[in-house]
Amino acid sequence: MWRQVILISCCFWTLTEAGAPCGLQMECVPQGLCKRSAWDQNAWPSPCQRSERCCHSSQMLVIGAPLNCGKSNPNGLGDKVEEVVEQAKPNEFPWTVALMQDMIYFFGAGTLVTENIVITAAHLMQDKTVNDFGIIGGAWDLNQLSGKTIQLRTAARIVSHPGFSNVTGANNIALIVLAVSFEMKPPIGPICWPTFGVSFDRERCVVPGWGKTNSRANNYSHKQKKIDLPIVSRSDCEALLRRTALGRSFQLDPSILCAGGELGRDACMGDGGSPLMCPIPGHPALYEFVGIVNSGLSCGLQNVPAFYTNISHMRPWIEKQLNDELNKPYKTFPIYDISFD
Ligand SMILES: *[C@@H]1O[C@H](CO)[C@@H](O)[C@H](O)[C@H]1NC(C)=O
Ligand SMILES: *[C@@H]1O[C@H](CO)[C@@H](O)[C@H](O)[C@H]1NC(C)=O
Ligand SMILES: *[C@@H]1O[C@H](CO)[C@@H](O)[C@H](O)[C@H]1NC(C)=O
Repeated sequence: MWRQVILISCCFWTLTEAGAPCGLQMECVPQGLCKRSAWDQNAWPSPCQRSERCCHSSQMLVIGAPLNCGKSNPNGLGDKVEEVVEQAKPNEFPWTVALMQDMIYFFGAGTLVTENIVITAAHLMQDKTVNDFGIIGGAWDLNQLSGKTIQLRTAARIVSHPGFSNVTGANNIALIVLAVSFEMKPPIGPICWPTFGVSFDRERCVVPGWGKTNSRANNYSHKQKKIDLPIVSRSDCEALLRRTALGRSFQLDPSILCAGGELGRDACMGDGGSPLMCPIPGHPALYEFVGIVNSGLSCGLQNVPAFYTNISHMRPWIEKQLNDELNKPYKTFPIYDISFD
C-alpha cells in the first residue's frame, strides 16, 4: 500500500521539463502554443509543467510565447505602501500596461501576452496611429513615471479586428505590436492564456486599471485600482440586460462575455482595454487572461453586468494574427523555472 502511495506521488510530482517529449509525437510546450491539448487537464494530471500543454506536433504553433506567465506579486514590489481597499499593490500585475496619448495623457490599458504584443480594446485604437501614443510597462502610479521599474515603448503596428462594431461592442479587440520588445524581467511579465475549454462561469476574477472609481468621479485614478467581480453566464446576463434600456430583444454578441452586476464593484470609464483575469484554481497568485474591458451601461449598478471581450472566443483570430505578424519560433525565448507560490 505504501508503495502505491509513493508511486502515485512520484508520478504527480515528476514533471517533464519544457520541450521534453510526453508521448508519441507529443511535446510539452508553453500553453499559448498548443491549439488543442492532447490531455484532458481535469481528468489527468498532465506530465508537463502547469503552464504548459502536452501537445501533438500537428497542434503546435510556431509563435513567440514566454514560458513564465501569469505570476502576480501579491505583496507588491518595492517600498511598502499603505493598503487601500480596491487598490492594486505596486507592480502587482506585471502584464498591465498603460496607453498614453502623446506619451502624456492616459487613455486606456492593455495586457502583455508576449514580450512584444499588447492586447487591448479596438475602441481605443479607432482614431489612433502608431505615432499617437506610447505604451508604459512597470507602472503603478501614473504620476510617477520616472522610476527604475518603468519601461517605455512605442507601437510598430496596430492590428484591430476588422469585425469590430462600436455599436454592439462585438469583436472589440486589437493587438499592438511593439517596435521594441519589453525586457521580461520584474516587474514586467506576460499573463497566461485561458485554460482551454474552461467557461469561468461564476468564478470571481479581477480587473486592474487606472479608470474612474465610479461614474460620478471627475478624473481617472493615478494609482492602479483592482476590482474583483464574478463572471456571469450568457443566459443570466441576457436575462438581466433585457430588463434595462437595452430592451427585451437584447442579444449578447458571441464575442462578448459578462461580468459584474454587483453594487459599486465594476470597471468604469478609463478601464477600457484592461484585462479581466481569473486566478488559476489552487494557485491564487497566478492569473489567466479571460476578457478585455469592453463597455457597459454605467458603472457599478446592481444586476447590470458589464461587457468584456471573450479571450477564449478570440483565440483563433489572435493566433492567426500572431502567426502572420511574428512567426517567431518560441524556442528563442528564455526558459524559466516555474514555481508556484
Ligand atoms: C463608430 O464608428 C463610425 C465609423 O467607423 C464612426 O464614424 C463613429 O464616430 C464611431 N462612433 C464612436 C462613438 O466612436
Ligand atoms: C482628481 O484629481 C485631483 C488632482 O490630482 C485629486 O486631488 C482628486 O482627489 C481627484 N479626484 C478623484 C475623485 O479622484
Ligand atoms: C467564451 O468563449 C468560449 C469559446 O467560444 C466559450 O466556450 C465560453 O463559454 C465563453 N465564456 C463565457 C463566460 O461566455
